Amino acid sequence: MTKKKILVTGGAGFIGGNFVQYMVKKYPNYDIYNLDLLTYAGDLTKHRDIETNENYYFIKGDISDREKIIQLFEKEKFDYVVHFAAESHVDRSITNPGIFVHTNIIGTQVLLDAAKQVGVIKFIHVSTDEVYGELDFDPNTFFTEETPLQPNSPYSASKASSDLLVRAYYETYGLPVNITRCSNNYGPYHFPEKLIPLTISRVLNEQKIPVYGDGKNIRDWLHVLDHCAAIDLVMHEGIKGEIYNVGGHNERTNLEVVKTIISTLGKSEDLIEFVTDRLGHDKRYAIDPTKLENLGWKPTYTFETGIAQTIQWYLDNKEWWEQIISGEYRNYFENQYNI
Ligand code: NAD
Ligand code: TYD
Repeated sequence: MTKKKILVTGGAGFIGGNFVQYMVKKYPNYDIYNLDLLTYAGDLTKHRDIETNENYYFIKGDISDREKIIQLFEKEKFDYVVHFAAESHVDRSITNPGIFVHTNIIGTQVLLDAAKQVGVIKFIHVSTDEVYGELDFDPNTFFTEETPLQPNSPYSASKASSDLLVRAYYETYGLPVNITRCSNNYGPYHFPEKLIPLTISRVLNEQKIPVYGDGKNIRDWLHVLDHCAAIDLVMHEGIKGEIYNVGGHNERTNLEVVKTIISTLGKSEDLIEFVTDRLGHDKRYAIDPTKLENLGWKPTYTFETGIAQTIQWYLDNKEWWEQIISGEYRNYFENQYNI
């Protein structure tokens, strides 16, 4: 069997980083190329243990740099593209939407053109359940792959736009694609601007935890390693042109999540500080993963086992997140919430 070349974009970030690790270790027979611009969210220290592996390569580059991306594809002739690179934080998209349009839409279109030009076995576009908008609090309602797209934030609107481009390249040019739409991920190497790692790091530092609004908004939590396994499955078995939702039925209110972390770490709920709500704050996300389950996927973590593993990881890897917090992130945080 010839060696397959897999291009992973955004492999220095949270989910892409976990996926790179998963693929390099699971498939010694594949060459994994990690293409990343190393924005504030990208960090290569997470790959220290694999950086000398023979099947791992890092390429620093911008997915929206058309000339360089086309040259790269012509040189390397990748078999698969797994596309994670994006601006990913909703709050940042509210204060600075432009970069989201540029990276998430233009960047995706450049990659699609490059993949079309050289021909790939599959282009997997990693999207989000946020493209469907929000659900109300009726626990019997879920996002399916047929739910209409109604994105509410500049972030989710940019992701929905990129999804439509991916779809169009399948319909118009026959580019073999899959789109995955997952719920909120959590786990090791999650950047501490997002709710779970932010809460863990702030509880450990005995700092206040900003809970937006009344804390009753619901997210459907997915452990990042279950997400990696889902993408692996879709990459190899997904039917071309199809969309797959990824979620493990783990709905929790934000307040429940924060309180679970506080009690696991044995600290006081006095750390909770209710702050002004996020603009356009989506009420609830919840995924119906039946289609992916029918393909053979099953999550291995419950929220209880996953959050316990994640908290332990942050306890064991304080050096990593302290290094992240001491950089640009901290300034951003102080400007945002001022507590
Ligand atoms: P992240 O912000 O942790 O990482 C994004 C990575 O992309 C970083 O390494 C960054 O350096 C890189 N990047 C940004 N702009 C780039 C550019 N122009 N060129 C090359 N690289 C660039 O994001 P994440 O949480 O790992 O999310 C990965 C993907 O999964 C995103 O597409 C996101 O929309 C999607 N997603 C995330 C979640 C979640 O809960 N985190 C949920 C659903 C979907
Ligand atoms: P986040 O981790 O930003 O993910 P997303 O907005 O993509 O769902 O936020 C998860 C939930 O937590 C969301 O309802 C907003 C809320 N939240 C807070 O209450 N406080 C915070 O400091 C952050 C970052 C998020």
